[in-house]
Amino acid sequence: MPTFLSILPSRLRSGLRQRLATRLIGDPSARWAAVDDHICASLLPADPALDAALAEGEAGGLPPITVSRNQGKLLELLARIHGARRILELGTLGGYSTISLARALPEGGEVVTLEFDPHFAEVARRNIAAAGFADLVEVRVGPALETLPALAEEGRRFDMFFIDADNRNLSRYVEWAIQLGGPGSLIVADNVVGEGAIVDPQADDPWREEGGIEGVLRFYELAGADPRLDITAVQTVGSKGYDGFALALVTDLAAPPSSSADTQPAATEPLVSATTDN
Ligand SMILES: C[S@@+](CC[C@H](N)C(=O)[O-])C[C@H]1O[C@@H](n2cnc3c(N)ncnc32)[C@H](O)[C@@H]1O
Repeated sequence: MPTFLSILPSRLRSGLRQRLATRLIGDPSARWAAVDDHICASLLPADPALDAALAEGEAGGLPPITVSRNQGKLLELLARIHGARRILELGTLGGYSTISLARALPEGGEVVTLEFDPHFAEVARRNIAAAGFADLVEVRVGPALETLPALAEEGRRFDMFFIDADNRNLSRYVEWAIQLGGPGSLIVADNVVGEGAIVDPQADDPWREEGGIEGVLRFYELAGADPRLDITAVQTVGSKGYDGFALALVTDLAAPPSSSADTQPAATEPLVSATTDN
């Protein structure tokens, strides 16, 4: 027997749910942000380097789409737990998450971070240098689908990946990570929930990126069928709203997925322009 809510169009349904939740517990996003503030104030020390990186980003006109402070700490902890030595990040912005990742590096480690926008990359280089990591971090400028093949040609290898760039190419980036990492490497991909848009065909793209939702859905389809990945995804709420991340361990390169032009990490793939809204 369909319920009253289930017979409504999905956009109306989720709007009603949202209003009901707001009535019951107040504005949920304000509460998520307050809890993030509490987490950071209680558990994390003052962090002038990250505060300065945020301030520089704001002064430089960068969009406020970094990971949150506690998410950055999660990235740092994941890198430490994994024992990562060579980290590849896709989507630098002003270097906020890059600094978090660099903090986890052991002696002789490195982070390579890929950014489409030259101005963002310049701000990031300054922030990374100010945080004391200029010698450990390399910022490469250009569309990731061009800089990734260059890294492969140079024979560069990585043991951890943080994917936080354009969503439309997410499954391609995961394939590149598998190729550049191999078995045992860790892949973290941000923005895989997008306010639940992945289960709401009527939803506006929360990342305001053409093809973003389709790219994330393609990622779920391919990653879920890929025997080389031991993978899950987790929803998150907080000061950055409602989204989620995927976490995968590359297990076995002997069993590639069924051939798909969409996943081949070829330099000849159609390149797409970057978005700054994700
Ligand atoms: C969400 S922001 C990254 C935030 C950063 N990881 C942080 O938490 O501090 C996404 C970044 O990816 C960059 N980007 C988007 N499309 C790209 C592409 N095709 N290649 C490289 N970078 C891209 C954008 O310019 C933007 O700076």
